[in-house]
Amino acid sequence: MDIRTDKDYDVNSWTEVMLLYSSALKQMQTKLEILNDEFQHVHRYNPIEHIKCRLKTSESIVKKLKRKGLDSTIQNMVDYVGDIAGIRIICSFTSDIYKIAEMIADQSDIKVVSIKDYITNPKESGYRSYHMNITVPVYLSDRIVDTRVEVQIRTVAMDFWASLEHKIHYKFEGNAPEDIKNDLAICAKMVAALDDKMLSLNEEIISMNAIEEDY
Ligand code: GTP
Ligand code: MG
Repeated sequence: MDIRTDKDYDVNSWTEVMLLYSSALKQMQTKLEILNDEFQHVHRYNPIEHIKCRLKTSESIVKKLKRKGLDSTIQNMVDYVGDIAGIRIICSFTSDIYKIAEMIADQSDIKVVSIKDYITNPKESGYRSYHMNITVPVYLSDRIVDTRVEVQIRTVAMDFWASLEHKIHYKFEGNAPEDIKNDLAICAKMVAALDDKMLSLNEEIISMNAIEEDY
């Protein structure tokens, strides 16, 4: 990322960097709304249930840099904190997740930096979600800056699980009792089974409609 400052990073450069991240979020939000609208127009169906955008606070940026053993400089935050701008896309079905991921990756101005598929490979906790680290161009008055955004795509059920797990994780400061961890792992399996069942049920309904429309 090309930040317009010399060696002296100051309050202005902080404001400038945060402006880039919030613009990148706006850019992504619009792109996703367009995709959703177009999908509705062509397929009469919305793959996206809803979208949540968030900018990381200065406190959590500093905390993350500390955890990585890095000084709290703007350069370090730009280079090493990939989730300053975060967007979470919630869908109904697992198949929607891959459709949306493909539509994002196919946009010629978006660059995919990395992908983590925690649906095919869930985390030990049971966490499931599809993560993409991308850059999106932000057009400023005198230059274009490719700005990083972390995109998390998950189903409603995965989101429900992740919210509770996150709450528990915080409550116990990362050291939840074993029985709670086990229960969460069991719930994660139930969520995965529910997602599979809802998907096959939906496909069955769609195929029934197709037969009806043939008549
Ligand atoms: P962080 O340094 O925590 O951002 O992890 P990372 O850079 O290795 O990326 P990863 O893809 O593992 O996780 C990024 C984000 O995904 C986190 O900030 C959370 O929002 C979410 N996440 C990852 N693992 C879990 C989990 O076990 N539970 C919940 N609730 N959320 C998770
Ligand atoms: Mg994070």
